[in-house]
Amino acid sequence: MDSPRHSHRMGLLAVSIVVLTLALAPASAQSGSPDKAPWMNAGLSPDERAALVVKEMTIDEKISLLHGTGMAGLSPISPLAAQSNGGAGYVVGIPRLGIPAIQMSDAAYGVRNSGENGRYSTALPSDLAAAASWDLDAGYEYGALIGRELRAQGYNMSLGGGVNLAREPRNGRTFEYLGEDPILAGRMVGSVIRGLQAQHVIGDIKHYALNDQESGRNAVNVHIEKRSMRESDLLAFEIGVREGNPAAVMCSYNRVNGDYACENRYLLTDILKKDWNFKGFVLSDWQGAHSTVKASAAGLDHEEPGELFFGDAMKEAVQSGRVPMAEVDDHVRRILRSMFACGVIDDPPQKSVVDVVGGFEVARNIAEHSTVLLRNDQAQLPLDASRVHSIAVIGAHSDVGMISGGGSAQVDPPGGNAIMPAGKGQTRWQEPVWFPTSPLQAIRAKAPGAKVQFDPGTDSSSAVALAKTADVAIVFAYQWESEGMDLDSLSLPEHQDELIAVVAAANPHTIVVLETGGPVTMPWAGQVSGILEAWYAGTQGAEALANLIFGDVNPSAKLPITFPRSEADLPHRSVVQPPRESTTGDEPDAWKKIAAGLPAFQTTYDEGLKVGYKWYDAEKKQVLFPFGYGLSYSTYSYSNLRVTPGGTPGGNGRLNFTVTNTSNRAGVEIAEVYAALPAAAAEPPKRLVGWSKVKLNPAESKEVVVEIDPQYLSIFNADQNTWQLVPGDYTFLVGGSSQSLPLKQSVSLK
Ligand code: BGC
Repeated sequence: MDSPRHSHRMGLLAVSIVVLTLALAPASAQSGSPDKAPWMNAGLSPDERAALVVKEMTIDEKISLLHGTGMAGLSPISPLAAQSNGGAGYVVGIPRLGIPAIQMSDAAYGVRNSGENGRYSTALPSDLAAAASWDLDAGYEYGALIGRELRAQGYNMSLGGGVNLAREPRNGRTFEYLGEDPILAGRMVGSVIRGLQAQHVIGDIKHYALNDQESGRNAVNVHIEKRSMRESDLLAFEIGVREGNPAAVMCSYNRVNGDYACENRYLLTDILKKDWNFKGFVLSDWQGAHSTVKASAAGLDHEEPGELFFGDAMKEAVQSGRVPMAEVDDHVRRILRSMFACGVIDDPPQKSVVDVVGGFEVARNIAEHSTVLLRNDQAQLPLDASRVHSIAVIGAHSDVGMISGGGSAQVDPPGGNAIMPAGKGQTRWQEPVWFPTSPLQAIRAKAPGAKVQFDPGTDSSSAVALAKTADVAIVFAYQWESEGMDLDSLSLPEHQDELIAVVAAANPHTIVVLETGGPVTMPWAGQVSGILEAWYAGTQGAEALANLIFGDVNPSAKLPITFPRSEADLPHRSVVQPPRESTTGDEPDAWKKIAAGLPAFQTTYDEGLKVGYKWYDAEKKQVLFPFGYGLSYSTYSYSNLRVTPGGTPGGNGRLNFTVTNTSNRAGVEIAEVYAALPAAAAEPPKRLVGWSKVKLNPAESKEVVVEIDPQYLSIFNADQNTWQLVPGDYTFLVGGSSQSLPLKQSVSLK
């Protein structure tokens, strides 16, 4: 439904944009000293400063902050949009008061809207890949890099921060999110936002909430009961809001229990603003607002991309008394306080040249920490460059590039799509993009003495012939995902399963490298000697991969999402599809129909609390590779568990245990802690409650301490609207994956 509008938006905007740096000039230059504009006194709190500005504003100025100026192909464009920087959203400034414009760009794994500026941005590994590092410092670096590059391109707000839980792994945006566990995902997004906002950029978390499928996203009604949503999808947002303190939250397209998320009082006001004490502003997803009075009262503060409901219609509603001025003031105050709090008024962005080399370094480092070694039969890996004489590199355009995730997350590759004839510039909506990072070249560089040959894998007999001649065959396989679509299945497309099977039959030393957005099924898993999950590995993917394959880097990542054996084991047979829609999105003014509301169809998340591994555990279904799983070239052992329950009511509990590197290679182990709650809690068998990354030299042992936040042990009591510790026996389980937990100790909590 969304494809035409997105291609329009990119095409038309490009022609009509004049970049005015004036809009980004320091506020004080236009508004004079703090005496005349007391809100420019940085010694005051963001709330005080915002309140002072609101007092000075006319109604038109207030309303001008409540909406964007439109987006080509999506909603009418105001002449003011000419001052946009070319990003997905633009909100006019108020020069009279020294308030700059808000320039927003999508920025899931790098800055999206750089093409129109002719500027460059670093493509990091996908968000899900970053989650596979289980590394909060890496998350911070991820956000910080995006923040720096946004500023360098003249943006002061990011539209990244996707944290919808991977409840449905066929969701086409799985690569943009952070996996299936709310604590891992919530903590990671919190770190990303902290890194981003530390650069003086407004950060957002999205898509709030339960936008767990793309099919019919503008119409679908998600039905789920309160306890389940609070303990799963919403817990990821709750932790993200608490730890990241984002200035903005983007509400999603879908309905939740009857109301659109962007006019859902329970989500926006009761939970987000009251229970979680969120101080920032709520903006709609693009064309996700559906009303004026209802949405405003429910807690929507800002409409994007245009002004169907929060422009003239809002002014009229205020003047006729249907929306109280105090409500508008609250929306405005939230937006202004966020701008002050993030520093975009005191320290506006200045366009500058992106640090390309520094970006490569971060991208490579994160890729090395996020590639998961899934199988390593008889220590097939790492390869010894001095002993391998010939390598067959097969499939997935591995001579020229590695694939990336599409949609509004897409980062433009420098020099264009690696598989297209020399095409420069921006990429198109829903066209798979391969970054120019060549596995073939990276492997050749590591093994200069070996004969490294390539076969595209399109004709399996030719691939087999090459594989037979080589010491080792490395098959690259891909699965492309994008916003605006879901996957039909978890199988690799384009007959790649067959290709892998025949190559594996021809060469006993076959290694498969997966470039996928999320989990895939692997009917050939037992026939190959090595499997690496590289996800969408970003602009330095090939270099990172070669470092892992040849052992310069020891793999340490672990799966943030379960790989099921078969689709039949998923909670739902298929993604619920919309009935024939009243719009295809192709006809003129389709956006008006979307805004007016498409007929709802329903998806019921009756698996409830049982998201990801909690489902497979509870249903006793075997999986292909479990949550938290990942091999290393080292081996580790666990011992000496001691559990200290929280000292004070609500105080953190603590676990101490020892991890030992039992190999002769230095490595990093992600030690995971799970808890099984008392039977009275009626929970799935176990949940992740903490982890620690432990760096160990050969034969070294370290004592690890993991603190456990009491909320992580609690259940949500929907009747009392509160988190609650259920008295009884808690069993703590510690080990290297959700299914390898050698240490176990129970404690009883009153
Ligand atoms: C996506 C958002 C994105 C927005 C602006 C929407 O289609 O769902 O994630 O931020 O477009 O590009």
